[in-house]
Amino acid sequence: MGPLLVEFSRQGINKETLAALVELAQESELPDAVEAQFRGDRINTTEDRAVLHTALRTPAHERPASDADAIEREQRRMLDFAEALRLGERVGHTGRLIRTLVHIGIGGSYLGPRLVCEALASPPGRRPPDIRFLANVDGHAIARSLAGLDPETTFFAVVSKSFGTEETLANAAAARSWLLERTLQPAALAHHFAAITANVAAAREFGIARDACFPMWDWVGGRFSVWSAVGLPLAVRIGRQGFADFLGGAHRMDRHFRSAPVERNAPMLLALAGLLNANFRGASSHAVLAYDMRLRRLPDYLQQLEMESNGKSVRTDGEASAVHTAPVIWGGEETNGQHAFHQLLHQGTRAVSADLVAVVNPAHRHAEQHERLLAHCLAQGEALERGDNAEDPHRRTPGNRPTTTILLDELTPHALGALLALYEHKVFCAGRLLQVNSFDQWGVELGKRLAPPVKQALATGVVQPETDPTTAALLDAIRARRSRK
Ligand code: F6P
Repeated sequence: MGPLLVEFSRQGINKETLAALVELAQESELPDAVEAQFRGDRINTTEDRAVLHTALRTPAHERPASDADAIEREQRRMLDFAEALRLGERVGHTGRLIRTLVHIGIGGSYLGPRLVCEALASPPGRRPPDIRFLANVDGHAIARSLAGLDPETTFFAVVSKSFGTEETLANAAAARSWLLERTLQPAALAHHFAAITANVAAAREFGIARDACFPMWDWVGGRFSVWSAVGLPLAVRIGRQGFADFLGGAHRMDRHFRSAPVERNAPMLLALAGLLNANFRGASSHAVLAYDMRLRRLPDYLQQLEMESNGKSVRTDGEASAVHTAPVIWGGEETNGQHAFHQLLHQGTRAVSADLVAVVNPAHRHAEQHERLLAHCLAQGEALERGDNAEDPHRRTPGNRPTTTILLDELTPHALGALLALYEHKVFCAGRLLQVNSFDQWGVELGKRLAPPVKQALATGVVQPETDPTTAALLDAIRARRSRK
């Protein structure tokens, strides 16, 4: 598919199995479900929302959404803003150039932007502001993010669809105090903060200027939002044309997804293979092995994409799922992983499936290193498939570990856009085959509800009688240890 090669032959799927998988896809009405998504049907049933992130990368004249004009207008506004930051036309409150952009957000408001910003290089010419990411509500994280920064040359982008996420709001408030304590000018806020959110009212209340608020749409889920204004840091890094190429690569994958028959449809085949591996071949988890350090954030990004989307036990009809849903996704940067966890991939008691992702033509001149890296990628796939029937049982490796190899011609915005869209569609298809709603995430709510009373107990030292006994004991232990200091 265009800038990607998706090689399935190491999935061990023969003609009969392929025919059965294609039949399963047809029985699940997968091709119709794809069209329902692109049409804007409200397929996120538990939240009664359409799922139309694909509209953000569809050329303007083909856009289905009723918001087509607004998408166009807001995309242009975000790109103008990013370009002004990149080119030094938008300056701080004292007129100095912005040297650092700190992106504050978590989950889908962080993982995609971080992956793409680390993967893609700025075009030659003017050096854009450095980009730092602040996600976790850990004081060490904000201390590191702000270390060495000058408030006159620092810009903050607060990214939160809800503008209600505790971690993001706490970090944004700390960043605001940091700025105001040092500048002593409330008016500085307007020059140093932007918000990307579906809740503009909350962003305005926080103090962010109206012209620095950019929308996230109701019909774009957080983990599918890198194509929206959430991609602002990427636009700052690679510029207007680079961002357009990124969207273009994803759109190219969308076209493939909508038109290719199941047996040649890369996202559908990835999803079908995943289902087979988790449910019929005992794969306990799925590893994403990035044979290019620029893609080292890919496993983190895919963890949220797949596990938050399809890590469910209840189907859309309210019945319990009778099959394994999303696998645990994990992975690493290779060849480091080969010297760490590949032992388990080769000889562990439970099978693990894997994607091996590599780039054919690198962006450096160390050809020797690159050929070695590529050779290891191909050899690992071969070893995992072939195994070794050695006489010594300690040296024996069973093989038959299913893998997919994905090759990118080069790591360009276009190719990366296509790669991320490939995985988005894979996750959608897997959800459809599993009959779960891939677009909600109710499971994360309980922990959010339980945290505030614990925080209150930490602050006051008063543990309410209904507190869970282990939580109460841990609170006591924390108090005792603090009082000893
Ligand atoms: O808690 C999970 C979650 O809602 C993710 O789905 C989302 O990407 C993340 O939190 C951040 O949410 P927001 O963009 O609203 O801050």
